[in-house]
Amino acid sequence: MDARGGIGGSLAGLDLREEIDRLRKERNAVILAHYYQTPDIQDIADFVGDSLDLSRKAADTDADVIAFCGVRFMAETAKILSPEKTVILPDMDAGCSLEDSCPPDKFRAFREEHPDHIALTYINCSAEVKALSDIIVTSSSAEKILSQIPEDQKIIFAPDKHLGGYLARKTGRDMLLWPGVCIVHEAFSEKELLKLKAQHPGAPVLAHPECPAAILDHADHIGSTSSILAEAKATESDTVIVATEPHIMHQMEKALPEVTFIGAPGADGNCNCNICPYMALNTMEKLYTSLRDLKPQIELDEEVRVQAKKSLDRMLAMASGTVGMGDIGAPEVTGD
Ligand code: 13P
Ligand code: SF4
Repeated sequence: MDARGGIGGSLAGLDLREEIDRLRKERNAVILAHYYQTPDIQDIADFVGDSLDLSRKAADTDADVIAFCGVRFMAETAKILSPEKTVILPDMDAGCSLEDSCPPDKFRAFREEHPDHIALTYINCSAEVKALSDIIVTSSSAEKILSQIPEDQKIIFAPDKHLGGYLARKTGRDMLLWPGVCIVHEAFSEKELLKLKAQHPGAPVLAHPECPAAILDHADHIGSTSSILAEAKATESDTVIVATEPHIMHQMEKALPEVTFIGAPGADGNCNCNICPYMALNTMEKLYTSLRDLKPQIELDEEVRVQAKKSLDRMLAMASGTVGMGDIGAPEVTGD
C-alpha cells in the first residue's frame, strides 16, 4: 500500500477533489460525466452532457485517458469511437436495465426473423448489439435520424419500448418495438404525478421519452436530458416538475436557484426509486482509484468494435444533418 492508499487501502484524509485533479493532469485525462451522476462528480467533470454530447466529446478529445462517469454502454461507446484511448469506468458493474433486456443472441435471432427491417437501436445497449444494428440513436437525435429514413423502410426499434412508442406516435412511423424498459423512468406513477400537479397548478412537467406514455401524456416538454435542462433554464415558472433521474436537478438548481424543481414521484409518492442504481455505483472514491490505477478499463473485441463503430458513425453523421442515409450507403439488414 502506498502513501496515498493502495488498492483496498483507506482513502481517509485524502482531499479527493484535489487528488482527482492532480491525477487528471498527470494522466492527461478528460473526465466526462452524465447528468445522472451525483453533484460532486458533475462538478469535477471537464464536461457534463447527454448521451449524444458525450459521444461527440469522446470522439473528439485529444486526452490520453477518458474517465467516463456514466454507465458501461456509454464508456463502451467512447472506446468504440476512440480505440487508441484508455477508457476507464469507475465501477464496471454500472450497467443499464435496457442493455440487460436485449442480449445479443436474442437480438440477432429477432433480426433474422425480420430480414426486411433495418435496426434503429437506442445507444443504451451493449457493444455487441450496436455491432448487430444499422443505425444508433440517442433520445436527442432519434427524431432527426428517423426523418432521414425512407417512409417505406421497415424498422425494428430496440431496446426501449417507451422511447420507440413515443417516436412512433410523434412521427407516425409504425416500428417493431423491442420490449425493454428503463427501470428508473418506469417507476414514475401517473396517479402521484397528477396529485403533484394539483398541488402546483401551472408548474410545467418536463419528461424524458424513456417514461411510459401515461407519464408523457401529462408532460409539457419531452426530450433528452440536455433538452430538459435547456427547457428548465428557459422557464418563467417558479416551480418545475422534472420526470427523469433526479440528479439532473443539480444543474437546474445551480442555474436557477430561485426556482423550485420537484422530482416526479414514484408509486409511494416519495420514494427514491427513480435514482438510477447503476449510475449511483460511481463515486468520487472510485473515480480517484480508477484514475490512480487506470482500471477498470473498457476492453472490446476488435471485430465487434469495428462493426459497432459503423452504426455509431451513421448516428454521428445523421445527427449532424450533414449526411443523409443515401450518402452513407444502405445498412445491411442481416445484422451479421
Ligand atoms: P440522454 O442523456 O441521452 O437523454 O439519456 C438518458 C439516459 O437514460 C441515459 O442512460
Ligand atoms: Fe439505463 Fe435507465 Fe439508468 Fe439510463 S437511467 S442508465 S436508461 S437504467
